[in-house]
Amino acid sequence: MDKIVVKGGKPLTGDVKISSAKNSVLPIIAASILSNGKCIIENAPMLEDVFVISDVLRSISADVNIDRDNNRVIIESSNICDFEPCCDLVKKLRASFLIMGPMVARFGRVRISLPGGCNIGTRPIDLHLKGFAALGADINVGYGYVEAKANELIGNNIYLDFPSVGATENIMMAATMAKGETIIENAAEEPEIEDLANYLNKMGANIKGAGTGKIKIVGVKEFKSVTHRPIYDRIEAGTFMVASAITKSKIKILGVDEEHLKPIIAKLTEMGVIIEVDNDNLVIDGRRELKPIDIKTMPYPGFPTDMQAQMMGLLSSIKGTSVITETIFENRFMHAPEMKRMGANIKIDGRSAVIEGVNKLTGCEVKATDLRAGAALILCGLAAEGNTEVTDIYHVDRGYMGIEKKLKGLGAEIYRCF
Ligand code: UD1
Repeated sequence: MDKIVVKGGKPLTGDVKISSAKNSVLPIIAASILSNGKCIIENAPMLEDVFVISDVLRSISADVNIDRDNNRVIIESSNICDFEPCCDLVKKLRASFLIMGPMVARFGRVRISLPGGCNIGTRPIDLHLKGFAALGADINVGYGYVEAKANELIGNNIYLDFPSVGATENIMMAATMAKGETIIENAAEEPEIEDLANYLNKMGANIKGAGTGKIKIVGVKEFKSVTHRPIYDRIEAGTFMVASAITKSKIKILGVDEEHLKPIIAKLTEMGVIIEVDNDNLVIDGRRELKPIDIKTMPYPGFPTDMQAQMMGLLSSIKGTSVITETIFENRFMHAPEMKRMGANIKIDGRSAVIEGVNKLTGCEVKATDLRAGAALILCGLAAEGNTEVTDIYHVDRGYMGIEKKLKGLGAEIYRCF
């Protein structure tokens, strides 16, 4: 199994280009099921999750062509004739559940394996299902599967108990073909939802307000061919911002929108990192003495849970006491024991972690327990004394395109062992 080895202590320098957002591309690929024409996604990140969701679409007879040389995914959904995607593929990737909305909208039926729990929490799908039911779908759950059927979906007012990203996206996609008007209130406001709505609108949908807490969708009958370039990955950008701070370096991050990074910029600035905006680039200077801080993860525009592990790594190396409170996922501190193996001083109490910064982290073998945990351990390795070996790196490959190559480009001593 692949692992990444980092020799810590080298400062970083230079530029790094950020890839397109995994969390935009996955729902966008799912949304392509709605179109009878050809959908082209440009500048798509070549990630394990993108390959898996493409295989999910292939398993229901869509044609999906991944052009790795040009970073394009080309999808033709006119051939879809199966309504039950391959169960083993669905289990590999929770985001596979996002095909449910487009399937029930276009074909009035879908049967899909329940996604189950994962390392970071139980992650139920009740809000997705309540939304489909509110649009008139019959939902049946049993024998490890969920089935949705509808002769016709009808627009409705839907209030989400929690602004779930996936539920907002799935219900929005289902409503694009529902008769009349749907309003989703307490919708998630993540930029990736706005990107998905822009994609759907280019295809012919009528969606207003995506990216705010109230989304209005008027149903349409047909979707056409479309070409789209997804937004950049704000979590990858945040990860490189932390890489700069943890190595006390100055680097430039290319191709980002400052607006989406506000919660991360605010917290790093509070710590003493100097961040300058230069058009769509950011210059991150982490060379000053940094201060401990408190962080609470929240739905967007709050601090993203997907940056919590990376910040824990950084705060472990900053003198003083910091507190992180995780409010989104109930079991997202799996990285803490691994960081403790590297010398970090972290105490977990329920949803809070108290971090006492240590003078130095020390390299050893650690295990990536999930995607962001793995990235955070690589960051710790950049700052640690000696060699850090991060195993189970397949988690990281799900969401970071060539992370070791990008860090090497910035001067890190890092390599992958096969
Ligand atoms: C998406 C992101 C993931 C990110 C998360 C939160 C993608 C592909 N993944 O995941 O990277 O960490 O948002 O920003 O975009 N919940 C329910 N019932 C539901 C749905 C969700 O209780 O029906 C709960 C979840 O258990 C969790 C919280 O809502 O505690 C947030 O989950 P959600 O926003 O749905 O995350 P995902 O869409 O799965």
